[in-house]
Formats: sequence, C-alpha cells, structure tokens
Amino acid sequence: MSDRTNSAGMSGEEMVALSKRYTLFDWQAQQNANPIPVERAEGVYFWSPDGKRYLDFNSQLMGVNIGHGDRRVVEAISRQAAQLPYISPFMTTEVRARLGQKLAEILPGDIEKVFFTLGGAEANENAIRMARAVTGRHKIVARYRSYHGATGGAITLTGDPRRWPNEPGLSGVVHVLDPYHDPFKEPDDAATALAYLDETIRLEGPNTIAAFILEPVTGTNGILVPPDGYLQGVRELCDRYGILLIADEVMAGFGRTGEWFAVNHWNVVPDIMTIAKGLTSSYVPLGAVAMRPHVAEHFESNAYYGGLTYNSHPLALAAALATIGVYEEDGLIENARKMGDVMRRHHGELMERHPSVGASRNIGLFGILELIRDRTTLEPMAPFNGASDEMKAIDRYLLDHGVYTMVRWWTVMTNPPLCIDEQQLADGFAVIDEALTVADASVKG
Ligand SMILES: Cc1ncc(COP(=O)(O)O)c(C=O)c1O
Repeated sequence: MSDRTNSAGMSGEEMVALSKRYTLFDWQAQQNANPIPVERAEGVYFWSPDGKRYLDFNSQLMGVNIGHGDRRVVEAISRQAAQLPYISPFMTTEVRARLGQKLAEILPGDIEKVFFTLGGAEANENAIRMARAVTGRHKIVARYRSYHGATGGAITLTGDPRRWPNEPGLSGVVHVLDPYHDPFKEPDDAATALAYLDETIRLEGPNTIAAFILEPVTGTNGILVPPDGYLQGVRELCDRYGILLIADEVMAGFGRTGEWFAVNHWNVVPDIMTIAKGLTSSYVPLGAVAMRPHVAEHFESNAYYGGLTYNSHPLALAAALATIGVYEEDGLIENARKMGDVMRRHHGELMERHPSVGASRNIGLFGILELIRDRTTLEPMAPFNGASDEMKAIDRYLLDHGVYTMVRWWTVMTNPPLCIDEQQLADGFAVIDEALTVADASVKG
C-alpha cells in the first residue's frame, strides 16, 4: 500500500535506532521493542517515512476517534498556543469555561462538574480518592477483566495481568469476576453476575466500600458487552449499599460504542465517570473526572486534597473543545452506529468462512474477533496472557499488508476511527480475511 515517497528528514531505520537507544518503550523488554516509524497521519491512515501506508484499524490505542490530523483540531490547538499556551490551574480561561459547559451538555444525566487530568490513569486515581473522601469509606471494588491505567492506584484497580508485576499496590482494592469467562465458557447472565456481586459486597462489608469501578463496555480485556440488565443491576446494588458507581469510559466513551458514552445504551448514570482518549481524540493528553452534583457538593465545603500543575491545560482543553465540535459537525456518533452494523456483517462473514474464528463481538466501532484452535473444546489460539506462533503470524501478515491493529492473546481488535467509511472497512476486513487463513490451518475439530 505504498503511495508516497519520503520528502526529507530522518529515515525510519534512524528513527527506530535512536529512539531505542535513548528512550524507553512501555510494557516490554527493550530488546523486543519493534516500533513502526511514523511520519504523518491523516483520516484513517498513517504513513511511515518510506511512504508505506497503514490503515489504522485500532485508532492507535482506541483513542484517535475523529481520525488523524483533523485540521479543525490542529488549528484550535495552534490558535490557543499563540494566545495562551499555559496558565496555572488556580487561574482560569475562556477555553476552560467553554469546555466545562460543553461537557455538562453531553455527559450523561445530571453529571455537570469535571476535574481535568492528563490522561485516563490519573483520572481514575483522582476518582477513587474523591470517592473515598465523599463516602468516608476506603475499599474499592474493581473487576478482574479490566484495565484502568498504569499509575500506582490505577494499576492496582486493573484486574488483568499487567497488575501482577506491580504488586503490592494500593490497599483496600477487591477484585470481582465479571459476566464473561474466556471463549470456552458461556458468560453468566445478568442475574447470576449480580447475585455474585451482591454476595461479595456483603462479605466484604458494604459500609467499608467507597466505590465500584468498572468499564461499562470493557476494552483491552475483550470488548465485553454486559448482558442487558447487568449495569442497571449494578446501579441498584450501589444505591442500596451507598457505594459510588465509577464508570471508566476512558476507552468506551466519545462515540466508540455508537453513543456518546457506553452507559447511555443502558440509561445508567454513574456517580463518577472518568474520560480521556477520545476527549481530545488523543491529539493532546487530557483526561477528566466527571461527577454528579451530590459528589461535587461534598467539595463545596471540603477541600479536595489533590491538584496537578497541568490541570485544565489550555492546549489540551482547546483540543477537546474542537474535537467535540468535530464529533457533532461530522455526525461521528451516528457514523459509528451505522458502521458498527457494517462491521457486524463483516464479523459474521469471517465467522462463517474461518474455522479459527470462535466468536466475534462489536458495539458501534468497538469490535473484536476471538480465535480458537479447537472447534470442540473452544481452546483459544493463544493462552491467557500469552502469545502463539499463529497469532504472531497474523499480526505480521496484517502489518505487511498495510493494516495496523491490536493483536492481543487470542484476539484481533477491530476499532477504527469513527470517521471510517464502508469501503475502508471492507479494505481492512479483506486483509484480515486473508490473514485468518494462516490460523485456520491450525484448527482441530
Ligand atoms: C479503560 C481504560 N482506563 C484507563 C486507561 C488509562 O489511560 P491512560 O493510558 O491515558 O492513562 C485506559 C488506557 O488504555 C483504558 O483503556
């Protein structure tokens, strides 16, 4: 998919060599880091310096929701940079006033106050500290199949194996199962999952629990869509026991699921919501803790003992305000819903054609394929927290053929920018279709 030659500047090889020598890559031994050098990006594509084009089928880290390089956002950032790039959070700015007001308009229910952070993990750190301050309780319930960020508290909340090397972490975090259990076991229905949650809460002592944090639709742990009734039931349990419900919408928010926020699918309003990624379409780092009036009320007469040098950073806020404008102007939430139906058709066709595809799910443009190596036992194509030759070969094939996505354990993610069109979706799925034949050869049964 080469359609452009490099004009000038550093070669991809040089970028990789110098970056590897002088900077640290995350989540991997440095000797294994194999970054794609990138020179520019636009819409659903990015290009390496040698002109190779990649279709971005994961919106980078499920965050570039409006697509790459949108001039409206770039220009808003540059106007803000020219006018006032930074001011202390103890002062205030027009962009802070306008973005606060705009968020109150689009956030679910009566949520109307936000505290700005630099990203998702920091939003979750502050959310749990606020929940503890408001309730006077200390425990936080979180789920095993979750990722909440990589700072000290957020990585303790995280249920997946990224937590293990970071233990011991924050005290008072209790993990619970969610309704999904790997491809080889049927998910629990809402009633079963809620009964288990209720029992855990009672055994832990309801009046010791400040908050239950969950991803309403789980992201990296498998695009897990809750069974109908689950989120409503969680809301009821939290109300019954005076526990604050924190919805981590860092990945699921801002149109990814075909609604502004994932909780909107079930008409549930959390007490606290954390957002990041799609808030600025990842153009500038920004997150926020958003809260309902009864949470905000506590901080009217009690100080919030937290703060950040870059709280309400004008460049980030300008990016967010312009990004929200793009979602609205281009109808991207609606497009995510429409293209989500197209994605479901592609997933269905792949399921029919490839014995290696054991399951597929999507809600809006939040999608995943689960690969299996045995049609009888439904054994996954790679182990939990592991890799396999087949999954590596799929990853390689996709990149070689100009499609970038996240290949994790036994799953292939399909999370393109929300501005994608039908043809671009078809192009991506055509390459995935070819890549899956690699995996089919290993399937038994
Ligand atoms: C659900 C969820 N919460 C929190 C985070 C952490 O956000 P950040 O990497 O901006 O700190 C992520 C990142 O992937 C996420 O997916």
